[in-house]
Amino acid sequence: MSSSPPAVLEVASLAKSYPVRGGRTEAVAGVSFDVAPGEFVCLVGPSGCGKTTLLRCLAGLLAPSAGEVRLAGAPVRRPPPQMGFVSQDYSNSMLPWLKVDKNVTFPLRHKGIGARRRAELAAEALRVVGLSEFARHYPWQLSGGMQQRVAIARALAYQPEILLMDEPFASVDAQTRGELEDLLLDVWATYGVTTVFVTHDIDESVYLADRVIVLSRRPSTVARQVTVGLPRPRDQISTKELPEFTRLRTEVMRTIAQVGGGGPASSEHRAPPGSSRVAASP
Ligand SMILES: Nc1ncnc2c1ncn2[C@@H]1O[C@H](COP(=O)(O)OP(=O)(O)O)[C@@H](O)[C@H]1O
Ligand SMILES: [Mg+2]
Repeated sequence: MSSSPPAVLEVASLAKSYPVRGGRTEAVAGVSFDVAPGEFVCLVGPSGCGKTTLLRCLAGLLAPSAGEVRLAGAPVRRPPPQMGFVSQDYSNSMLPWLKVDKNVTFPLRHKGIGARRRAELAAEALRVVGLSEFARHYPWQLSGGMQQRVAIARALAYQPEILLMDEPFASVDAQTRGELEDLLLDVWATYGVTTVFVTHDIDESVYLADRVIVLSRRPSTVARQVTVGLPRPRDQISTKELPEFTRLRTEVMRTIAQVGGGGPASSEHRAPPGSSRVAASP
């Protein structure tokens, strides 16, 4: 990426291990990559390879054991105000005693934004995700896909320069997942927010990204970076029937097979037959 603008996010020789009884579990081992302003990068790799660990280090939620993350040139040591984070576990990320609009504005208190502006930002974000009518509902009154849209709205209202997402659509049904992917691409195109999106779904990574970074099995290293030049705006049907889409997903899949991601799936992460989910590493 030598001709691209200077990176907004730099990951330099990042490693992370966890203390466990009798030693350490190495989750991430020397990962380096850059993300350009406005870029959509997907990190794809087998379950258990260290994706969440890596993303939490990027977000300043976990301290790396070695290496560093730099945001606009400055080392990340705590969650930077310019970053928004959407986790996989949307139900646990909602505060059940707050209505949807208050869930959306909750993180804005830390930004010192006044009540009136907070309400405006929530209304706008809920409109963007198509949930204006549900502002005064409780999160538990909404379906899983709607709750995940609330989580996206909350990240949007926060107006992040960088959006980090950890398998945000992994637990919704296939149709909702496609709708959420398209909603996310719309939002990304409208706001130009730099996005780092973790997934173990190869098709999803190619469909969304400008670049797919393929991680090895644990401890994760960068196995390969695949540039995705598919035209935008993308479409669930016409994009996925392009020969180039097939070529790219095969390239990602082959890389994962080469680095040993195709081992037996654990029951927890087993993929349905014929799906292109990456099998879990043992
Ligand atoms: N807090 C922790 N303490 C000890 N080991 C952990 C902890 N969090 C994750 N791990 C281990 O680190 C490895 C990578 O985990 P994770 O980053 O969650 O992978 P992924 O998101 O790719 O599924 C796994 O072997 C996991 O068991
Ligand atoms: Mg994970």
